[in-house]
Amino acid sequence: MKTNAVILAAGEGKRMKSDKPKALCEVLFKPMLSWVLSACEGAGIDKTCIVAGYHAEMIQERFGADYPVCLQTQRLGTGHAAMMARDFLQQGGAEHTIVLYGDAPLIDAQTIRDALAQHVECGNAVTVISAELDDPYGYGRIIRTGAEIDRIVEQKDASEEERAVHEVNSGVYWFRTADLLRALDCLRCDNAQGEYYLTDTIAILKGMGLRAGVFRAAGSDVILGANDRKGLLELNEIARRRVIERHLNNGVEFLGTDGVIIGRDVEIGAGTTILPGTILRGKTVVGKDCVLGPNSLVEDAEIGDGCIVNASQIYQSKLHNDVKMGPFVHIRPNSELCDNVKIGDFVEVKNSVVGERTAIAHLTYVGDSDVGKHVNFGCGVVTVNYDGAKKSRTVIGDEAFIGCNTNLVAPVKVGDGAYTAAGSTITKNVPDHALAIERGEMRIKEGYALRKLKR
Ligand code: UD1
Ligand code: CA
Repeated sequence: MKTNAVILAAGEGKRMKSDKPKALCEVLFKPMLSWVLSACEGAGIDKTCIVAGYHAEMIQERFGADYPVCLQTQRLGTGHAAMMARDFLQQGGAEHTIVLYGDAPLIDAQTIRDALAQHVECGNAVTVISAELDDPYGYGRIIRTGAEIDRIVEQKDASEEERAVHEVNSGVYWFRTADLLRALDCLRCDNAQGEYYLTDTIAILKGMGLRAGVFRAAGSDVILGANDRKGLLELNEIARRRVIERHLNNGVEFLGTDGVIIGRDVEIGAGTTILPGTILRGKTVVGKDCVLGPNSLVEDAEIGDGCIVNASQIYQSKLHNDVKMGPFVHIRPNSELCDNVKIGDFVEVKNSVVGERTAIAHLTYVGDSDVGKHVNFGCGVVTVNYDGAKKSRTVIGDEAFIGCNTNLVAPVKVGDGAYTAAGSTITKNVPDHALAIERGEMRIKEGYALRKLKR
């Protein structure tokens, strides 16, 4: 059975005070719209289109390559937004279509699938996903006669009695596609807001003698959207808790979760400990038995087993096993640290490979370099990789010893087992097992200070 989805995302979100469409506001570093798209994909929906309006070009730019984007130039209501997807619905050929909001990110694949199963089994023209709220203010109320849904009435159009209903419309509905198209043709905007309400399709389809049903969501999260920054923070909190709970169930240890934010797609192995103030985001994968944090940030990185990342930041890089770093290390994109590498305080590594067991203990910059195994860096080494016009590489052989405060002016190569003397500026290749010294000869002026004192 073919299914389609239409995601309504034309909203501006004035109260966000953002110049992006509301659906692009982020929960755990991901636009809310991406959450909804993932839920649809997870539920196995064949084709999804997005209805965009406010700054539609931003949605087009971000998602247009993967999803058709329909334009709603004037925002005349949820029903009007759905009308903008007419061509998509007609051409899609899917028997059933789900309509959702791009700014309600906590809808999940399971709910989508279960609601579809009920929708199909009951032979409904439309099935509304509802939730029970303690405070239903502002939401459309589900009005029933007996067990059956009659219609949905919006807050502004509702009578006192109707406002007392706590079962509300989530804004997510399964429709038989052909019936949705028919109902859209019948929508009128004669209501308190002068909008085309998608909610009116319920009464319209019932009036045609078709069946309408309600699928009650297990919790009320599915309904949660964000209208302002406060709401967005609440969504982030809920999502954050959920992600942490998943990792707890997988055997990840947390000694408190203050300031811990883990992106939705991050994977962490059992036995790893996450300390406070640690942010893991993007496509990060962490192995077993690591300790990350406190106060670390890891983005799009692959981290092996047994690594320690203490108060450090890692971007788009790979750590093999038992790498130890920190505090205050910055690993910039495209770096690879092999097994047992040790990196100490105030070290930056960029676009470099660092071989097994190499130690870079203090105050060092390693950029655009290929560093061998078991190399020792003294304190304050700098790879001079940029001459103002182009970047060049530094190559350091296995077991080399780079003296303190060495400048390695690239392109340059230090051979296997070679030494550089402290304070040297190395501009020519150093052969294997040689010592390179480059510094002025030391001179002593006896009694200089005493003579100066007399003057
Ligand atoms: C809507 C429902 C209400 C439900 C609530 C759940 C209607 C008439 N009411 O109310 O029953 O309880 O959602 O959150 O449907 N949108 C567009 N184009 C438009 C108008 C809206 O794309 O012209 C999008 C918005 O971006 C948003 C969603 O539709 O994502 C909901 O719009 P909103 O105006 O917030 O609807 P509510 O009044 O909250
Ligand atoms: Ca809303």
